[in-house]
Amino acid sequence: MDMKPIPAQSGSHNLEDYEKVYNSFDWNEAKNNFTWNDTGKVNIAYETIDKHAEDPNKKDQTALIYSAPDREETLTFADLKRESDKFANVLKKHNIEKGDRVFLFLPRSPEFYAAFLGILKTGAIAGPLFEAFMEQAVRDRLEDSEAKMLITTPELLERVPQEDLPDLKQIVLVGGEDSGNHISFEEEMKNASEDFDIEWVDLEDGMLLHYTSGSTGKPKGVYHVHNAMIQHYQTGKWVLDLQEGDVYWCTADPGWVTGTSYGIFAPWLNGVTNVVRGGRFSADDWYAMISEKDISVWYSAPTAFRKLMSAGADVAKKHDMSSLRHILSVGEPLNPEVITWGLKAFDLRIHDTWWMTETGSQLICNYPSMEIRPGSMGKPIPGTEASIIDNEGNELPPNQMGNLAIKEGWPAQMRAIWKNPGKFESYFINGWYVSGDSAYRDEDGYFWFQGRLDDVINTSGERVGPFEVESKLIEHEAVAEAGVIGKPDPERGEIIKAFITLNEGYSESEDLLEDIRQFVKKGLSAHAAPREIEVKDTIPKTRSGKIMRRLLKSWELGLPTGDTSTLEE
Ligand code: WT7
Repeated sequence: MDMKPIPAQSGSHNLEDYEKVYNSFDWNEAKNNFTWNDTGKVNIAYETIDKHAEDPNKKDQTALIYSAPDREETLTFADLKRESDKFANVLKKHNIEKGDRVFLFLPRSPEFYAAFLGILKTGAIAGPLFEAFMEQAVRDRLEDSEAKMLITTPELLERVPQEDLPDLKQIVLVGGEDSGNHISFEEEMKNASEDFDIEWVDLEDGMLLHYTSGSTGKPKGVYHVHNAMIQHYQTGKWVLDLQEGDVYWCTADPGWVTGTSYGIFAPWLNGVTNVVRGGRFSADDWYAMISEKDISVWYSAPTAFRKLMSAGADVAKKHDMSSLRHILSVGEPLNPEVITWGLKAFDLRIHDTWWMTETGSQLICNYPSMEIRPGSMGKPIPGTEASIIDNEGNELPPNQMGNLAIKEGWPAQMRAIWKNPGKFESYFINGWYVSGDSAYRDEDGYFWFQGRLDDVINTSGERVGPFEVESKLIEHEAVAEAGVIGKPDPERGEIIKAFITLNEGYSESEDLLEDIRQFVKKGLSAHAAPREIEVKDTIPKTRSGKIMRRLLKSWELGLPTGDTSTLEE
């Protein structure tokens, strides 16, 4: 679908003249907004919460509105400071020190936010896990990070293989009782002091580990440092266009990077009210959230927009959404038809933003003051340089497809892949960070996403590594071999499709395939379970034994199979 450009949004914006700022901006300008620029002492949790709690004009402002079908809670900046100070004291009491990994495996809840900020206040590294993870996914992450402490609930604890995790010294249970090495969050908090001496750290000290999937191997720990706050703050201004008095809603779970960078840091560094919704998706409830909480800035994902779209205009019409001023999207390609729908439903443009777990912060975006070209991700934020490069690291001219790459050195860039320097280095060539996405740039500097260059699957905006799913599949007693691909899907972007061969003695049946699907779902997580499974006689492999997923995909899509010279006989 070809669509005309959509002119800039009216009103005054934090980034009025993109080109001018792009040509002159220096990250040092942004640093003046932080206290550490005078003291040299830093802690992202201080800048996010405590700074506002110390400001008489800000401390009683609502920082967090938590809303779930069964629970409503409102916390001010002063409340969040107190709760996170208390939890930091709990951590100290249990010997958590700077640099230790403390993981959170919790549903979205006020406790999550207090605990997360408390971890950062001690100088420890927080590792948030998506609530839907099952045992294998939890095990891989806790093992690799050598996490010392885990905060979870009694229900989720069943998916934690405690006996296999020697480094895990302590488990804190939200809504649970003291027993053995499990301590109760509520009991500990009751007795904890409200005064905590924050651990001042260096800008380059670690604060966050987000695990993400590649096309090979287990999930990788993407390591972020306190310095990222500079970009979280600045993109909160330029891209989210946050202004005093805004009520902001990011729909992402804090188990994923969008839910921390833009569900915690960007809004609170900018001192706005942050809305968190618990519970499952429902079109009616989502619209009701916007109207009841007077949400003005809303950051979501194409999958969610497509679901709202298919719920129909009648559902939308029941709600007053006039509080909305600015809408943004991330995670997968934003279809032009979704933008068209957004214009009708909200009388507003949906602004696409592009970035990754590894980049830590937004990089290529559409800005309210800029023309949108539907289908384009927009232009790089000031202070960064994006380009299209070939496999040798040379820049390509406009309109030529290649690797989407970013010049190294932006503030929020990952600093390491946990315990895997080789993997970390493999991202870079000639001073460029290579994203793994293919794209082109038009003559006017707009970037256009074309697809992934590797086998990583993007299903409903969530990144799934085929290797993890294949590994789980072959653990099933009936499965001999497995190859997993992303298959295009109108609502989910891609769905996971698995090709398998069966062990001797097993024959294909609906029951067996459903059992295999459930096996992956219960072992890894619901979003990683294949929606389609096809039984084959063989799985195509290279002579060195690598599964040829590209060939599986060509078969699936009825495309030419390309070069198969490496195919095993
Ligand atoms: C991959 C990164 C941090 C954002 C959430 C996902 C895809 C992301 C877009 C976009 C097309 C996009 C890319 C990227 N992606 N944003 N605006 N248009 N594709 O983070 O899980 O690390 O995934 O998501 O393929 O490489 P992630």
